Amino acid sequence: MEIRMDGRNALITGGSKGLGKAIATRFFTSGANVALVARGRQDLNAARQEIAQLGGGKVVAIAADIRSADGCDRAIAEAEGQLGTLDILVNNAGTSQRGPFLEVSDALWQDDLDLKLFASIRLCRRVIPAMRAQRWGRIINVLNVGAKMPDAEGAPTAVSRAAGMALMKILAHEGAAHNVLVNGMLVGKIRSDQWERRHQQDPRGLSLEDWYAEAGKDLPMGRLGLPEEFANVACMLASDAGSYINGAAINVDGGLCKVV
Ligand SMILES: NC(=O)c1ccc[n+]([C@@H]2O[C@H](COP(=O)([O-])OP(=O)(O)OC[C@H]3O[C@@H](n4cnc5c(N)ncnc54)[C@H](OP(=O)(O)O)[C@@H]3O)[C@@H](O)[C@H]2O)c1
Repeated sequence: MEIRMDGRNALITGGSKGLGKAIATRFFTSGANVALVARGRQDLNAARQEIAQLGGGKVVAIAADIRSADGCDRAIAEAEGQLGTLDILVNNAGTSQRGPFLEVSDALWQDDLDLKLFASIRLCRRVIPAMRAQRWGRIINVLNVGAKMPDAEGAPTAVSRAAGMALMKILAHEGAAHNVLVNGMLVGKIRSDQWERRHQQDPRGLSLEDWYAEAGKDLPMGRLGLPEEFANVACMLASDAGSYINGAAINVDGGLCKVV
């Protein structure tokens, strides 16, 4: 099924790398205009160039730290200024922060909640009124399987993700009558810049492919997912093809999560 998103305006947080960049690329090649938001200007510019050369609409890069209300406001204002009303918001920016509960400081809890929960709250609050007014909107919260299946040493991230899943559900109920559809995508293990940074820190000196092969050998499908496989699902949810999917927390994990 070919999915088109012609003329839609999408903002993707964490759009400079990994899953966010794959989503932005997929949306763009399906006809959407995309605004990439992240902190690092260099990576943003590189991603913007890489995507823009695929032709089509507009790609804008916005440097903002979305852990603050000010950063969220600026990201939306700049995206709206350059693209117009936003039809699609993907709350994707995140980092992996987990450890033994007794070692997680207040500062770490706050940082994780600011990035993974409060940024979504603030960005959703900014985009929903215009989406309601035009009776078309799509919001995707990128979460991880810890939201459904928290385990030992899963704090703070699993808690932030569970809260993000509850937020998604509330917004889906409130948005349904306005055709503002809100869903969650729960990541298992998917290749991204995050994993490549871990590879670089591994002292064993394995090639990236060998390292990925080892990292994936105990997963249900024997491998990590590919960012394009993740982006395909996001594209469906964010387009007219997903017009009756609302309030779903979809595992994109090759069967890793034991909870449906
Ligand atoms: N890949 C996986 O296997 C996996 C597993 C579980 C969950 N996830 C979740 O999936 C999402 C994407 O992960 P990924 O693997 O693609 O990560 P990634 O490759 O590290 O990319 C993260 C993106 O988020 C941006 N970002 C981080 N902090 C930010 C901030 N404060 N303000 C604005 N942008 C910020 C980063 O850019 P800057 O650093 O330049 O700001 C980057 O563009 C994250 O929420 C992650 O937690 C991924």
